[in-house]
Amino acid sequence: MPQVTASGKTFEVSPEANLRQALLDQGIELYSEGASAFNCHGHGSCGTCVVQVEGVVSEPTNFETKRMAYPPHSAHQDRRLACQVRVLGDVRVTRFDGYFGEGETAIWTPDLAKVVAPNT
Ligand code: FES
Repeated sequence: MPQVTASGKTFEVSPEANLRQALLDQGIELYSEGASAFNCHGHGSCGTCVVQVEGVVSEPTNFETKRMAYPPHSAHQDRRLACQVRVLGDVRVTRFDGYFGEGETAIWTPDLAKVVAPNT
């Protein structure tokens, strides 16, 4: 069974599990505060479920590639729409700040549930 490591948790998922659903099932805060209520529920259109994924996952679909080509995501070729990712092997996931997860500062990493800035 593939393992997902995200926000300080490691858990098993079924092969080809949907990454968005796997994170939500574990109670991991995938969305920013505003986007948790207003998102497309995994249809790949809102762009608010963006994460950085290391590991073995499905290739981006044409639809995902097109969505990620628009701002604010166009600058981040290393990120994915969690709702469009199928987990094929062990993966490590990081979420960044910003409404869409488009920021440059990690808010949680594979090993940390919350990243604390050095001066806070
Ligand atoms: S939940 Fe809207 S794009 Fe993933």
